[in-house]
Order: sequence, then structure tokens, then C-alpha cells
Amino acid sequence: MEQLSGMIFLLLLAGPVCGEKLTYTVREENPPAVISNIGEDAELDKKYSADVFAQLRYTLGDVPAKYQGLLTIDETSGILRTVQRIDRDMICPSEKQCVIALQVQVKSPHFQIILVDVTIEDLNDNAPWFPTAVVQRTMTEASLLGATLTLPTADDLDSPAFGVQWYNLTGSTDTFELKIRRLSDGSVIITLVLKERLDREKKDSYTVQLIAFDGGSPSKSGSVTINVQVLDVNDNNPQFDEQTYRVSVKENMRSNSRVIQVRAHDADIGPNGALTYRFASKTKKALGDLFSINDTNGEIVVTGKLDYEESSTYTLTVLAQDKNPDSLAQTTVIITVQDLNDNAPKIKLNDPEADGSVHVSELTETGSFVAHITVRDPDGGVNGMFSCTLNHDHFTIVQLYETEFKIVTSAGFNREVTESYDVEVVCLDKGEPPLSSTGHITVNIMDENDHNPRFRQPTYRATIWENDVSKPFLVMVEAFDEDVGENANISYRLEEEVSGIFNIDSISGNLTVKVPLDYEQVHRIQINVLAVDHGEPALTGTAAVIIDVIDVDDEDPTFSQKHYMFEVAENEPSDTRVDQVFAADADSAQFNKFILSIDRDSEAHAAFALDSNSGVIYTRKMLDREEQDVHQLTVLACQRWPPCSYQHHVSVCESNR
Ligand SMILES: *[C@@H]1O[C@H](CO)[C@@H](O)[C@H](O)[C@H]1NC(C)=O
Ligand SMILES: *[C@@H]1O[C@H](CO)[C@@H](O)[C@H](O)[C@H]1NC(C)=O
Ligand SMILES: *[C@@H]1O[C@H](CO)[C@@H](O)[C@H](O)[C@H]1NC(C)=O
Ligand SMILES: *[C@@H]1O[C@H](CO)[C@@H](O)[C@H](O)[C@H]1NC(C)=O
Repeated sequence: MEQLSGMIFLLLLAGPVCGEKLTYTVREENPPAVISNIGEDAELDKKYSADVFAQLRYTLGDVPAKYQGLLTIDETSGILRTVQRIDRDMICPSEKQCVIALQVQVKSPHFQIILVDVTIEDLNDNAPWFPTAVVQRTMTEASLLGATLTLPTADDLDSPAFGVQWYNLTGSTDTFELKIRRLSDGSVIITLVLKERLDREKKDSYTVQLIAFDGGSPSKSGSVTINVQVLDVNDNNPQFDEQTYRVSVKENMRSNSRVIQVRAHDADIGPNGALTYRFASKTKKALGDLFSINDTNGEIVVTGKLDYEESSTYTLTVLAQDKNPDSLAQTTVIITVQDLNDNAPKIKLNDPEADGSVHVSELTETGSFVAHITVRDPDGGVNGMFSCTLNHDHFTIVQLYETEFKIVTSAGFNREVTESYDVEVVCLDKGEPPLSSTGHITVNIMDENDHNPRFRQPTYRATIWENDVSKPFLVMVEAFDEDVGENANISYRLEEEVSGIFNIDSISGNLTVKVPLDYEQVHRIQINVLAVDHGEPALTGTAAVIIDVIDVDDEDPTFSQKHYMFEVAENEPSDTRVDQVFAADADSAQFNKFILSIDRDSEAHAAFALDSNSGVIYTRKMLDREEQDVHQLTVLACQRWPPCSYQHHVSVCESNR
């Protein structure tokens, strides 16, 4: 068994792990609207029957914080919609692509994940803007043709396509022209280049307008006014030792450690040759938290935490400048981060119960879905590759996608034997040394109504006096059920046909009698009591109750005949046997013995004797038919002696020759 499940596990792991992705595009700034029906687009309506399709429930898996609250999916219909107007320039400012990657989780009866990418399409809703409206600059009258002034650059929050595309110059365009240098980090340096010699005596100031246009159609623009004042002085431009610096650092590099030192030279001597170093504007904006440069010696240090998982290379554009703000040199520093196996795979159980567990029914078939887990290792290369195992005789793990696994059952369950399992998933990465992590999943086995209620005794016995309902209690029956909850919640009942005679308390199991019973009709009654649980469907247990009715002396005796006619010969001696009378009643034997006697009021009582036990009648004297041929006797049958107040019966005795 153990070996077999291991083999299955390997086979499943090697299976195909690809899933399709649904992609949609939404315009930014559109009012909230329906995007699409995910269930139908994923063709789940073709995959499942209409019944199952209608039961599917859709939820969104982890949505990164910055995209939260933008999209929602209807749990039952699977309709994905936007919740609010989406401002792409808030969530992805100046980014080329703005894609919200969603995992739609589909549940009941099967769990599955549909990957959905929603691309937010940019609108050209931002114009280029400059930090200030007016800039004051100076230029010496001795400036050579080609002398430059650095101008501010414009910014635009839209995506690069709708971002700043080009600049134009208006105003004194006979004297100045624009020169635009694109730096390796994508930032631009805009310089105003002198086209004709200046003569401060002729004209001591110029005004130009720098206009930035974006890529929209129609294009939006922003502008800055530059006033140039004419002065005098001059110097040399600095130059870096290297066009490009390359350096490789470890990802666990400590803050403030040195990455590299860049150096530039300036032909000028003295204060004019003193250089300052800085990052170009885009580099500073993007990476100023991670790196800093010493402005006097060009030493670059790490100031933040390098993370290979976030970025494996960083490209810095570094500028060197002498005293003249318009003499700039640039170089590029490419920093490669070496990955360390510093992350163990992270195991996450998706969609657990509130207490972190998952559950399956005890009647679940082998191969049924139990839980969905996501495993991620942010390390790169082999350091980020992992495999997961699960050693359990009831569960196996199946890989769905590169980072998605499901746990399925590999055996049956019996909650009455084991209520819950601790399932251990171990994921080990392929780094050197390898890092592993262990996830514990508590699987609770849910009760099913698979046990009948059982009575503690198969048969109960009770007794009841006949004719008496003053103490109706007969017996308390008790049943138990190995299930739990409502599946084990028992109600007691009687079969329909005895419910007029008996009653059972559905909760306590107390059996009582409702009407007096008659021993003479029935000595013993056997009925069935039922224990019914509250499961769906309910199960029933049965026990017999045997009720003995105790006799009470409540019946009157009767003689075997209403009149007896006996004959006896005359002239026989006294104590001659005449014949016998019999009396009986319906009570049981103990109440069925009578004392028989001759009523003293009978006319002939002096002539006859009666055996009080046997009922045999004897003569007490010699009889003479000629004297009297018929004698009338009344015979009594009594329970006690004397008196016999109860019941009597008349018998006639006649004697003749
Ligand atoms: C740029 O400006 C010049 C004059 O300043 C003008 O002639 C030219 O048409 C402009 N270019 C565009 C594309 O607007
Ligand atoms: C920059 O380097 C100079 C010379 O090595 C040193 O004196 C100065 O303290 C450094 N500046 C900073 C901010 O570390
Ligand atoms: C058992 O069922 C009765 C009747 O439906 C209900 O009142 C009672 O609360 C239940 N007991 C338990 C323990 O669930
Ligand atoms: C059931 O019978 C038992 C035993 O006579 C008694 O203690 C109990 O109170 C009865 N319960 C009910 C609900 O009548």
C-alpha cells in the first residue's frame, strides 16, 4: 500500500501542469462595469453538467495590496467586474504595462484555479509638466558657439506611450537651439545650445519657451519659460575614466558597504577642476533608497537591502560635474546581484476554515480533493526550484502548476476511528545547501450518518398491575449512536399501532402506559421501541419491550352450570357421594381457588354436606323418597371463609329411587 501510493505520487508529479490564462483589457477611468463571465470563458459550462456548473463558487485569490478593491467577482455567477473607476496612473505610474494578475478560485465540488490577467489600458489623461514655470539662467558673453545650458525636463504620469515624447523650442530660436541627450537609464538631458555669438552690449537677455509634448493623439503639452541673462567666464568639461563600470555583489551585502568607486577627470585645475558626483534624476528617483554616491569621491555604497528576488541587476547612471552647472559627464554602473539561497519555499494553504484546518467527509472516495496549496520560493535559478513531498497513508500531493499543488485522499476514512489527521507537506529547494520548509495541515474528518442508533439492551422488561394507571411508568430505554452531532441526536418513538396504549418520551426514552390493561385479555405484551437519529437520511434502531401484566383478583367465580340436577338413591347410608359442582373465574390460578359451601338459608341444607375444596356433595342422613323426592340446595363459591358475600350459584339436587 505504502509503495503503491508512492508510485502514484511520482506519476502524477510528472503529468502536465499547464493551465490556460484568460486575458481582458479594461480602459482606465471608465465607470464600474462588467468585464466578463469567467466561468463561461473558461468553458466550465461545457466541462460540468448544468447542475454542477450552477453550484460553482468563485472567489478571488490573493490580490496584491495595490490592486485591492478594484475588481470583484460574483460568487455565484462568476461575473468579474470593476468596482470603481481605475486610475492607471495611480497604480502603475509611468509604467509601460499595467496588468492585474488574478487567481480566480473555483470551488464545489472540485477546486480549481483560473489565471486571469486584466490589463488596464492607459488614457492620455495627464499632460507633461515641468517642476517650475520660469527658469532664470545666465551665459557669458564670451561663450563659444556650441556652449550649453542644461534645462529642466518634463514629467508625465501616463504610461511611456503617452508620456513625454518630444520637446520643441519657441522664442529666440535664431540664437539658441535644443539638443536632447538620452541617457542609458531613459532619462534625458536637455540643453540649450548657442547658435550665434552673444553681444551683451547689443542684447543682454533672451527668452525661450521649452514645450514638452506627450505621445497622445491629440498630444498634450506643458511648457516652461527660460530667461537667459548674458554675462562672462569659461572652462573644460569633465570626463569619466570608464564609459561603463561593471561590478558583481552578493545579495546579502550589508548596508553601507562599498559597491564601487567611479572617477572622472577635469582638465581644469584649482576650484574649476573640483568635481561633484551624483546620480542622474531617474536613477535617483528609482534607486536612491538602495544606493548612494559620495558627491566628493564617487564612492557608491549600498544603503538598502539588495534582493535578488526583486531585481537581479541594477543600472545606475552617474553624472560628474565641475563648477559650471552646464558641464556634465555621464557613466553607467551595472551592478549584478548574485543570488543566495536565502529563501526556503513558502507553503501556503489556500482557503482554509477559520481555525486553519480543512475538512473532508468520512465517506469521501479515494482521490477526492482535500486542499489546495501554493508554494513559492523567491530565489532565482536552481535556488528557487523545489519539490514537495507528503508521506501519509491517507493523502497524496498532486502538482497542478509550477507553484500550485492539491492534496487528495488516497484511502477511505472512518471518523469513528480517527477524527482528524495532521498532514505534513515538506518542500525542499535545490539550492546549496538546500532549504526546506514544512507545512502542517489539519484535516478534520466530517461525520456522516453511517451508524444506526443501538439500544443498550436488545430486550427490555417491564411489569404493570392490571386495571391501574396510577403509576404509568414502565421502563426507561436508552440507545446510543457512534456518530456525532445531529447524526447521534436520538429521538425515541413507538410503532403507530401501539401509540394509543403506550407513550414514549422522545428525549428521555421513558415508556409509560396510557390506558389500564386487563390481565384477563392479555398476560404479556411485546412492543417495539424505535430510536431514530436526526441524520439525513435518518437511521433507526429497534428494541423489544416485554410488558407483563400482573393479575389482580378482579374476576367473579362462576359455576360450570347454571343449574345442576343430581340423582341419589333413597335409603343409602349417610355420607353417600351424590355428585360434584365446579366453580372457576378468569383470574390466574392463584386467584382461582374457592371455598365452596351450602347456603344455610337453603331449604335442604341440613340433609347434605359439601366438601369445600372439591365441591363433592354427600348426604348427611338416609333419605326417603316417599317423604321428599326433590331437595333444593344453594351452593356458594367464595374467595374467603366466612363470610361469603360474593357470589353464589344455585344448584338443584333431586333424589329418587
Ligand atoms: C517647433 O517650433 C518651431 C518654431 O519655434 C516651429 O516652426 C515648428 O513647427 C515646431 N514644430 C512642431 C512639430 O510643432
Ligand atoms: C565622502 O568622502 C570624503 C572623502 O573620502 C569623506 O571625507 C566624506 O565624509 C564622505 N562623505 C560621506 C557623506 O560619507
Ligand atoms: C437534538 O434534537 C432536538 C430536537 O430537534 C434539539 O432540540 C436538540 O438541541 C438536539 N440536541 C443536540 C445536542 O443537538
Ligand atoms: C424518566 O425516568 C427516570 C427514571 O424513573 C426519571 O428519573 C426521569 O426523571 C424521567 N424523565 C422524564 C423526562 O420523565
